[in-house]
Amino acid sequence: MAGAVVNNLEGLDRELETILTSFDTNYAWNYASVKAGLGDLYEKAKREQWNSTTQLAWDTHVEPESEIVPDVINPLAEYGPFKKLNEKERHRLRHAQMALQLSQFLHGEQGALIVASQLVGGVPWIEAKYYAGSQTMDEARHVEVFSRYLRSKLEWEWPINESLKELLDATIQDSRWDFKYLGMQVMIEGLAMAAFGNLFQLCQEPLLKELLRYVMRDESRHVAFGVLSLRSYYDDMPENELRDREDFIIYSSELMKDRLVGKEIANAMGWNPEDVKDLVLQSPAGQLFRSMLFQRIVPNLKKLGLLTPRVREAYTRMDLIKFEDFDADQADRELGFQA
Ligand SMILES: [Fe+2]
Ligand SMILES: [Fe+2]
Repeated sequence: MAGAVVNNLEGLDRELETILTSFDTNYAWNYASVKAGLGDLYEKAKREQWNSTTQLAWDTHVEPESEIVPDVINPLAEYGPFKKLNEKERHRLRHAQMALQLSQFLHGEQGALIVASQLVGGVPWIEAKYYAGSQTMDEARHVEVFSRYLRSKLEWEWPINESLKELLDATIQDSRWDFKYLGMQVMIEGLAMAAFGNLFQLCQEPLLKELLRYVMRDESRHVAFGVLSLRSYYDDMPENELRDREDFIIYSSELMKDRLVGKEIANAMGWNPEDVKDLVLQSPAGQLFRSMLFQRIVPNLKKLGLLTPRVREAYTRMDLIKFEDFDADQADRELGFQA
């Protein structure tokens, strides 16, 4: 009996990771509306709540090794060791890649859940607290649906990518509330909207496609929440404080653009991680995808006045400045979403 208890505690240790956070928490005693647009967004959030248990067709049969996205999209298609795989091995790899991608969505959603809850305390306007409360509920639902899909349909879950973990830690641990918006609503959710949109368009499995459609509808509001909340916040910021924001934007963009792609798959397959990384980074499809991930971030930074000369220089170097006038609203409308 005592042995069982000890084992349980050891299990808990492995499953829990504790990080120390400290951030300013604000009561907002002014209950009147002070921030244009947030009230409407909160009303929309209330109208668009959904129940993942009853509104998704969980009884759909999913074949985990099937072509959930078409095989032609695989950036490793021309890689020697990949070509040598037999059909069974390719199906296994296909399964691994989909499970890996959805696992990163899952872990990112948990990060979003934590950050949204921090924003409830941190933001200085009552309507932003209302909205952050609704986003917290949304993110709980997103963790729930990705976790359920991974466990009951793909039956394979991967640990978090180390670069994503680094950015989540930085966002969760920063004491300043606007960094939480920058890290989550602008950077991570900007990337996520692009990645979800890409998978949504390619997805051939009806349950996952419907799940993504619901999640994206929520996410487009979350990105709008960040932009509405931060609008004009940086206009009169002293130069030294603005510099901290620039540093964070450049650091997190480089981290996300050059993150160790393919490392997990390479390790699992016994392939050389550097070869796989180079291949993914250099393949035209891989390049297009990685740059496309930023198409929502750059115009949002511009709206916030954060495409400063330093950030502009970094984005020019990263070949991302081309997205500064990208019309994300138009792209959302084409996919059938609108915040
Ligand atoms: Fe989410
Ligand atoms: Fe979100």
